[in-house]
Amino acid sequence: MSYIRSAAFDETGYVILDAYDQASDPKEWLDLEYVDWRSSGVTRFAPLASAFGEMEVDGFWNHTPPRTDKDGVWVRANVEKAPRLKARAEEPGANVGRCRVIELQPNGYADALFNQHQDDNNRLNPDNSGWIVRGFFNLSDDRESLMILREDRLDPSTETRIALPAGTQLIVDTQRLWHSVWHQGTEPRYCLITSWESGRELDAYIERWNGRSRSESAPLAPGVQDAAQRLFEERLEARARAQATRGRVERGAYEG
Ligand SMILES: [Fe+2]
Repeated sequence: MSYIRSAAFDETGYVILDAYDQASDPKEWLDLEYVDWRSSGVTRFAPLASAFGEMEVDGFWNHTPPRTDKDGVWVRANVEKAPRLKARAEEPGANVGRCRVIELQPNGYADALFNQHQDDNNRLNPDNSGWIVRGFFNLSDDRESLMILREDRLDPSTETRIALPAGTQLIVDTQRLWHSVWHQGTEPRYCLITSWESGRELDAYIERWNGRSRSESAPLAPGVQDAAQRLFEERLEARARAQATRGRVERGAYEG
């Protein structure tokens, strides 16, 4: 398959834009309607654009007819309460797929590593169209929290950690990079996540906001990453053991 991709993502798979002046906007995300949806931790989502404009956040390929993550339909009840958020999602002028605010409860570094995943944004995306990437606009002020990006899920040396004060604007090729957030604090984190189609419009937007494809990882105290990595690997092994045991029981039942 060949897709239109933005050269800005070639090197690292992410782009950091200039910060947005979040403090001057109303906190629209606190007025939205959220639906329960577990994804990478204890989360809820407020849909701004969904497959058919309903108050739900499922992948567009799980609807009839199934389609890729493009041509999202605005969810009226929520966009009426969040005109600024809608305008920011529309600012690039690129095709918008899913658009929603995520609410994430605090977690730990090892939890975040265990939650790392790649998205499936380009499922059913037609050949020769634009590769779908995702914007992450941090809304709450989470300067102690970190977006964790890894090229290789199991290899800590491929990790980039990006701090998330209010106004942070990132665009990530989330189908390439493993990603999750280590959210420290006591209050939930809120972030606007938008699926955009790559192309000329998105390239121009990245340029306007001075997109940079490399960032120094936020520093950690010595030993913190090693300890989290060990815990993460132990949890992976425990899950594999549990799955193997379940598999044996299921096979045994079948054979019996
Ligand atoms: Fe994701």
